[in-house]
Formats: sequence, C-alpha cells, structure tokens
Amino acid sequence: METNTTFLPLARPDIREEDIALVNEVLRSGMLVQGKYVEKLENGFAEYHELKYAIALSNGTATLHLALKVLGIGPGDEVIVPAFSYVATANVVELVGATCVFVDIDEVTFNIDVAQIEKAITPKTKAIIPVHEFGLACDIEVVCALAEKHGIHVIEDAACALGARQNGKLVGSFGVLGSFSLHPRKSITSGEGGILITNDEIIAFKLKQLRNHGIQMENGKMNFVEAGFNYRMTDFQAALAWSQFQRIDNILEYKNKLADLYFDSIINAKITLPFKPLDRNHTWQTFHVLLDKSVEQKKIIEKLKGKDIGTNYGAQCIPAQTFYKKRYNLNAEALFPNAYNAYTKGLAIPLYEKLSDDDILHISQIINKL
Ligand SMILES: Cc1ncc(COP(=O)(O)O)c(C=O)c1O
Repeated sequence: METNTTFLPLARPDIREEDIALVNEVLRSGMLVQGKYVEKLENGFAEYHELKYAIALSNGTATLHLALKVLGIGPGDEVIVPAFSYVATANVVELVGATCVFVDIDEVTFNIDVAQIEKAITPKTKAIIPVHEFGLACDIEVVCALAEKHGIHVIEDAACALGARQNGKLVGSFGVLGSFSLHPRKSITSGEGGILITNDEIIAFKLKQLRNHGIQMENGKMNFVEAGFNYRMTDFQAALAWSQFQRIDNILEYKNKLADLYFDSIINAKITLPFKPLDRNHTWQTFHVLLDKSVEQKKIIEKLKGKDIGTNYGAQCIPAQTFYKKRYNLNAEALFPNAYNAYTKGLAIPLYEKLSDDDILHISQIINKL
C-alpha cells in the first residue's frame, strides 16, 4: 500500500470493487428492501455467533431500542448503562421511557467497572446494557453472573465489537440479546445498519414483527398486532455488509497488525497507550489513547488537524451531556471520574484498513513530537 501524503481522517471505510459489484447487483434487480442479502447477512451473523437468530435493522440505535421494547422495558423501569459510551446506549433507555442508572468505567479498559454494578441494582432494575467499548470485550461473564443472580436482562451493546471474544466466545452471544452497528466507523459497514442476535425464538419472532410496523400475516392477509416501526434494512445495504463480512477475519487481523505497530512506535510520556489484554482479543474499532492531565484535548486535536491527521475524543461521558445533566442533575466529574477523564482526556487516533504501515509510522512520529 502507498503512503498517504494527504489528510488522514480518523476513519474511512474500505469499500472494494467486489463490494460495489454486489450492491450494483441489488440495484439492478429492483428488489431494494429486505431481500436475499438481508437474509444472507442474518444467517451469516447467526452462524458466526453460533446462535439461532439474527435480525437486521436500519442502524445500531434501532437495535438497542427494539431490544428494550421486545423485553417490555418502559416507564418505572431502571436500566444500568456505563457512564462512558456513545450516547445512543442511554438515549434508547430514555426513548422507551425508562430511567438510566449510570455506572463508572474502569480507567484502563474503558469498559463498565463490574465491581460497581451491584450497588446500582434496585428492585426496579430490569436490564443492564454493558458496552464492549472500542472493540474490547468487557467482563461480560461477570456481568451475566450478576444479572442472573438479580434476575435482570443483559443486552450487550457490541456496536463496536464484531469479532471480539472473552474466553473464546464471541461478544453479543452472552446476553439475551447482542446488538451490533454497521456504521462506517465499524469493522464492516452497510452505511447505516444494525443487527440483533439472540437464541430466543419468541424474541426473534417479535423483533421481526416490530421492525415492520407490527405486522402479522393471517390467512394471507396483513394484520397489525403491535404499534411497530419501520426499522427495516435495505437489501443494497445488506449486500455491502455481507460482502465485507466474508473477509472479517482478514480485516481484524490487519487492524491488529496496525495496532501492534502503534504500540511499537508511539513513545510519548504524555500519552498512555490503550490496554492490550492477554486473556481476550482487541478488535480495535478505535485506538484510544489517554492524554496526560496537563494536556488540553482540544488543542491536541487542532494541532494534529494542522498536521493533516484527523482525531477526536472517543466517546461521551453521558451524564455530562446537556440532556442528561438536565434530566438527572448528577455531578458527572465527581461521580464518574473515570468516564469523565476518558471523555475529556481521551483521543481516538486513525486505525483502519485503508492505512498502510507507513501511515501508522508517520502518525506515530507526529504524535511523538507533540
Ligand atoms: C457503543 C455504541 N452503541 C450504539 C451505537 C449506535 O449505532 P448506530 O450509529 O449504528 O446507530 C454506537 C455507534 O457508534 C456505539 O458506538
């Protein structure tokens, strides 16, 4: 691969000719919504995760929303969410009229601090949405054990973590439902898109109904048995994701190689590199470093932009966002110090298939001089 001498954005999907060919095939067929490639993608996802059902939806927020809906979670219920994630993880709780209960993250892994979960559980707790942040499995086995003990549902937010494992088992397949996003910043993309996976036949059936206006066919006639949504995926989107899904192992291997190169080449006392665990793989949806307390995140982002490198903060401290401040009135900095620190001192740097080794070395050199 050639060195990129122009601007290196934070993310850029690797859309290949073979992907475009499949999309074209669908466009030419005229069967644009929920056709053969949606089915292939669903079957492929279910098989890959060794589960029975996968349901493709229009994005990875719709997946979380329907997960809560299908479990009957609503007003009066509490849902535990990490204080540090993309805001969608909490927004869906608000959308169903339930209440978010935030738990701080571990400062090293950026995943929910499992030691703090139990004190957040109350008689109103109905579910927990652990996030496998930036492509690293959280301590999902501990989360599931706690959930089982207290009789609450686990909806895994694996939006960023396709292919991540704990003890050899793929994330998304631990909880009652696993949720994935196929947004362009993820390992494979359909533009916008999302997938839910489950082993529960009744849940899968209801999800298919809910994504399509609550439809039920009765003696060849359409009936509407729920106030559902239009959360369907188009078939050309599914074709794009399906094509990339064929090379998922190669994608993850290549990203892992680039991450290793960062580990070897970034040396800067003001920057802490991400944690690379020995007991589970990291899928590097985001390479997220932490800046020293003395360093101003905004200035670094601007400085790197001036050097033609796109970076940004990695995810939000959700209780610190305006809506959540108004709704819950929590002192986020004091109550969720690790989430707040990751939000204000975290920096996502470029790591994706379109980058070459030379690009990574170039970015590292610039970061080392900061
Ligand atoms: C952790 C997490 N959950 C949910 C989502 C929402 O996914 P989508 O953008 O496909 O709606 C994202 C998207 O970035 C995410 O990072």
